[in-house]
Parts: sequence; structure tokens; C-alpha cells
Amino acid sequence: MVKKKACVFISGTGTNLRSIVKNSRDYNFPIKICLVISNNRKAKGILFAKKFSIPYFCLNTNRYKFEKIIFQKLIENKIDIICLAGFMKILSKKFIRNFKGKIINIHPSLLPKYKGLNTFQRVLKFKEKFTGCTVHYVDEKLDNGKIIIKRKVSINTKDNASTLKKKVQFEEYKAYPNAIRKIFQM
Ligand code: GRF
Repeated sequence: MVKKKACVFISGTGTNLRSIVKNSRDYNFPIKICLVISNNRKAKGILFAKKFSIPYFCLNTNRYKFEKIIFQKLIENKIDIICLAGFMKILSKKFIRNFKGKIINIHPSLLPKYKGLNTFQRVLKFKEKFTGCTVHYVDEKLDNGKIIIKRKVSINTKDNASTLKKKVQFEEYKAYPNAIRKIFQM
């Protein structure tokens, strides 16, 4: 099968990158990760790119320069889809418009609830019974685009931010690949 070309944007540990890469090695998975972009040279996730021999590019500069250079890289590499996976820089409206319908993100809550940062602390504070993760299209508003997939986890009284993060991330590793399969109708 002809796989779509994907680029994963990271800033940190890159465990979602790892899960997408592992899934993408399956012949039937619809995308191939052709490029990893990081705005943080020290991002641990870069080690996964190295381990799996995926070309990567790190660039820590202001948003204008970052997007100008990255835009060229994405065009040169004929990237069809951009997967944000723990990417902590907010992309400009212009950049998002240029790749309309081609950028997806994973967020650690059941959107539209708990947009933004510190989701685990906030769900605990509001004594939620459930939380989870959401894969969604990126539009011009933060954590707002059309939802592709959600996965739910239950919260028990012993949970703290760290146990919750582990539980949610475990679901993320299934949610992201499944969302990609769903987009390309596999
Ligand atoms: C994930 O929990 C994701 O939901 C959030 O950032 C975290 C990234 O983790 N957007 P990793 O870098 O994939 O390990």
C-alpha cells in the first residue's frame, strides 16, 4: 500500500511518537513517519527518532522563524499529515490555515472538558469520576478542533496526578494510532 507521509512534532519524552512509530511499521498502517520535528534539542523523544532511523530536525527559535523554516521542510518532504504529540509551542493561525485539516493533536482529557495545561490536577480538584484522552483535528483555537477519537479511564480515590497520567498515557498509545487508522478509514 502507498502510505501517507507524516511528520510528528514533539517537545518532550516522545512516548506517543514511539507508539505511532511502532504501529507504523505494520504494512497496513496508513502512514509512514518521514520526519520528526522538535522545538527542544534536549527532547528525549529525539532518541526514538534516532533509534528508528527517522530523519529529525530541532529548532529552538521564535515562532515566526520556526514556522518559516519548518514550512519549507514540510513541503520539501511532501508531508501529508502533521501529528502533534506533546508539542508545547502554539502554532500560528497562518500556519494552521496552511495545513488546514492536516494537523492532529492528542490532549490528555476528554475534550471539550479541561482544555489547556495541568489537566490531571484539575480533574482531581473537580472530583471527576472519569477522564481520558482525545485525538482531534487542530483548528485556530486551542484544543478545539473536530474530535476523532476519545478513550476514557476511571478515576479512583487513590489516584493522584502521577497515577492518572500513567493511566491516561496508556490509553493514548492506543488512541493515537487508532485515530490515524480512522482518518484514513482502515
Ligand atoms: C501526552 O500526555 C499528550 O496528551 C500531551 O503531551 C503528552 C506528551 O507525552 N499533549 P509524550 O511526549 O508523547 O511522552
